[in-house]
Amino acid sequence: MRSIVAAISTLLLAGAVQATSPLPAERQAELLYLLKHDCGSCHGMRLEGGLGPALTAERLAPYGIDFLALTIVQGRPGTPMPPWRPFLTEQEARWLARQLKQGINQ
Ligand code: HEC
Repeated sequence: MRSIVAAISTLLLAGAVQATSPLPAERQAELLYLLKHDCGSCHGMRLEGGLGPALTAERLAPYGIDFLALTIVQGRPGTPMPPWRPFLTEQEARWLARQLKQGINQ
């Protein structure tokens, strides 16, 4: 009985750790590829602007991670910015928003 409780709490703990742990390196590489090629088609290969605004750290400085992640997940209705929900989780959108704010393009 005791070992079952221990096993269950280990499983629960593993789930909790997974929810907050960093993205696997492989997925990070995929997201950076997406950023350059898909986002870059509108925001510029170097994310310095095109059809969409520049996504440089300097320009995004006034915006919070939550706001930027929401923009990425939901898009901006009425503008060409599409929702990325089918391709990204919220955690992944937040990771991308953090990269942009840290200046991934520099
Ligand atoms: C089809 C063109 C297009 C693509 C592809 C695109 N965007 Fe956008 N994006 C836009 C436009 C246009 C805006 C400005 C929307 C507005 O007027 O508020 C925008 C706005 C944004 C903003 C908010 C910037 C701000 O100044 O408010 C972020 C962040 C963003 N995009 C990130 C991304 C990311 C990350 C991707 C790829 C996963 C992506 N975009 C792909 C067109 C695009």
